[in-house]
Amino acid sequence: MQLPAEVEQKFQALLARYPVKRSALVPMALYAQDVLGYISDELIAEIARRLDLNTLQVTETLEYYTMLRRKPAGRNHVQICTNISCKLRGADKLWEFAQRKLEIGNNQTTADGLFSLEEVECIGACTGAPAMQVNYDFYENLTPEKFEGIIARFDRGDRPPSVRPATGAVHPRHPAEVPVISQLFGVENSHTLAVYLQNDGYKGLEKALSMSPDQVIDEVKKSNLRGRGGAGFSTGMKWSFVPKESAKGKYILANCDESEPGTCKDRPLLEMVPHQLIEGMIIAAYAVGAHRGYAYVRGEYRYVIDILEAAIAEAYAAGYLGKNVMGSGFSFDLAAHTGAGSYECGEESALMESLEGKRGYPRIRPPFPAVVGLYGAPTVINNAETLSSVPAILRRGGEWYASLGSPKNGGTRLYSISGHVNKPGIYELPMGFPLQRLIDEVAGGIVGGRKLKAVIPGGSSCPLLKAEEIEGLAMDFDSVAKAGSMLGSGGTIIIDEQTCMVDLCRRIMHFYAHESCGWCIPCREGTAWLRKLLDRIHDGGGRRSDIPLVGELAKNMLGRTFCPLGDAAALPTMSIVKKWPEEFEEHIAGKCLYKPADVFAAV
Ligand SMILES: Cc1cc2nc3c(=O)[nH]c(=O)nc-3n(C[C@H](O)[C@H](O)[C@H](O)COP(=O)(O)O)c2cc1C
Ligand code: SF4
Ligand code: FES
Repeated sequence: MQLPAEVEQKFQALLARYPVKRSALVPMALYAQDVLGYISDELIAEIARRLDLNTLQVTETLEYYTMLRRKPAGRNHVQICTNISCKLRGADKLWEFAQRKLEIGNNQTTADGLFSLEEVECIGACTGAPAMQVNYDFYENLTPEKFEGIIARFDRGDRPPSVRPATGAVHPRHPAEVPVISQLFGVENSHTLAVYLQNDGYKGLEKALSMSPDQVIDEVKKSNLRGRGGAGFSTGMKWSFVPKESAKGKYILANCDESEPGTCKDRPLLEMVPHQLIEGMIIAAYAVGAHRGYAYVRGEYRYVIDILEAAIAEAYAAGYLGKNVMGSGFSFDLAAHTGAGSYECGEESALMESLEGKRGYPRIRPPFPAVVGLYGAPTVINNAETLSSVPAILRRGGEWYASLGSPKNGGTRLYSISGHVNKPGIYELPMGFPLQRLIDEVAGGIVGGRKLKAVIPGGSSCPLLKAEEIEGLAMDFDSVAKAGSMLGSGGTIIIDEQTCMVDLCRRIMHFYAHESCGWCIPCREGTAWLRKLLDRIHDGGGRRSDIPLVGELAKNMLGRTFCPLGDAAALPTMSIVKKWPEEFEEHIAGKCLYKPADVFAAV
């Protein structure tokens, strides 16, 4: 197959990027699709030929990824998020309006081929909800009128300006904020090496290189930095598990897959301070003796990947990457890698499978990645925010960082606060900051002066807390766990008194059923069954016995799945049924307190 020159050039660059050719599979398919419109049989055969695979291997792998298409989409592919942060701010209405306006339904294309429409899961714009992407461009804080205006411009052949950086990332600082990793948010050209260097850039690396690797790990241990990807595991401890010797080499991975609904803090970090992440990755590599790393970025963040790749090129040119980093004798190579649509690929072992060019199925553990990870070699995988916190720790010391937070929860963290607050946004606050103050003071209180009903503290996989349960609650891993939920990814979703919890529960389950990779039965069958059951209850066709059945089914998934996605689906569901059973009963009796009777009957 004769490929257009730009695709050929990209293929060559990708093939040089990995020690195992197959790793280039998903990026090759996505970049080729961008130019050719879709993935044809001919393209599959061409990719298979270049990667020494057969066409079946390529086809079955690519089918896993939701961004990859086997038929053309419209010239302007409109993707509207209806996941919970967007739903709470009017996404359902927007979705209905979009279908009417474009006169097409989900996954359809207009007759003139100008538009196609898709209902999508969280796109990482939760603080700018409701949001959509047209091709790779973000449009946020949408209303039907705004949507109409944007579509009219595309109709005229324009490309309306997209939203960058993520809404709410740049704002007047609240006095309670402690900007450590977000210090350069909003500073002109903060993504460039020149501006980064003017602001202590690469000073942390310089310090690290003057220490022994073990001293670097000790400093990170002292800082009480805990993983910002969700589980809150000690970063220094994780690094110390990596064996000293490895015949297969070692790897550092930055998890920039950010797909947990309610979470959009890695996007501005990568977009505005990519060198901070790069510096954090080099320090991590030096500490564990790794010489190669990848930043796995979700495919939807294409413009962010472009920014990151430009920063990586600058870092190579300036001697921070490549052979003999800053004249130290230490070498480290780094590249960005694009995902192509899959929440499950954020799970660390699924991410490694995906990076090896396979379907994103998780691996059985043990062995853990620190011992057997990417390409079977010892691997450190950390969230983008975790790694971005490392340069300041080296620069200013572990003790300083630890002192910013609460006991055993060092430093600051970026909270993406979305839902029914007046000032949704991404705020950097000390670990242990009171949730009530986060809502009332930092995020400007609840919209319309309404009352708080519930909070999801750290992304859609966390159990919900009732308003009365957040009294005095400190936002750190241990305190939120003690209150019966999780700090997770810091995606804090605020829900007001006018929200139907059955509808919310149903939408959460739609997400997990959509994202279940299908590898294990409790999750694959459980999420599909729960989705059906919750739809039935929501639509007024449920039976009384359905209510305990929801709780029972969710409980049966808990702890019985290969990876934590099963738990992520079960936990919020169990908490909603337990805490708001009366709303389920009302739906079964044919009523919904939050929808007029005629609207409910129409459902
Ligand atoms: C279904 C699922 C999705 C996940 N998605 C992400 C993600 O998008 N980003 C992330 O950093 N961690 C994600 N995680 C957590 C990772 O598995 C892993 O714990 C994390 O990358 C470790 O980094 P940390 O120690 O810095 O938090 C996910 C976990 C699961 C089970
Ligand atoms: S729990 Fe779900 S996502 Fe995880 S392996 Fe099983 S089916 Fe796949
Ligand atoms: S962008 Fe819609 S929920 Fe995150």
